[in-house]
Amino acid sequence: MMIAAGEASILILTIDKNSQGKGIGKQLLQHMIMQAGQSGCDTLLLEVRRSNHRAFNLYLNEGFSEIGVRRNYYPTNNGSEDAIVMAMDPSLY
Ligand SMILES: CC(C)(COP(=O)(O)OP(=O)(O)OC[C@H]1O[C@@H](n2cnc3c(N)ncnc32)[C@H](O)[C@@H]1OP(=O)(O)O)[C@@H](O)C(=O)NCCC(=O)NCCS
Repeated sequence: MMIAAGEASILILTIDKNSQGKGIGKQLLQHMIMQAGQSGCDTLLLEVRRSNHRAFNLYLNEGFSEIGVRRNYYPTNNGSEDAIVMAMDPSLY
């Protein structure tokens, strides 16, 4: 996570394949939201692949909303894929 000028961005959230589905990703996300809030941020941003329903739902359930789309952001084997931009106010978490 990067924090600057009252704004935080989650750059990477990845859990080892063998440890997924055990609540660790959710805990790590909650920790980052609290860190951003405690650092005085009122905006926390992230991007997620349109096809990544698992991550998208995790973010939605923790209070993020979709605020935009970056077209063709991620390269894929046969072209590209949009990124959904999501945001929340960690000071209200
Ligand atoms: C997305 C990711 C970070 C989630 O971490 P995780 O530790 O596997 O997820 P958790 O066990 O904390 O579960 C989080 C939520 O996903 C749901 N979930 C867990 N396993 C699931 C599965 N196989 N299918 C669908 N939903 C699932 C859980 O129900 C949970 O929601 P709930 O608490 O409301 O029940 C992890 O799967 C990952 O690293 N994926 C690959 C990299 C990635 O996509 N990163 C995000 C990029 S934006």
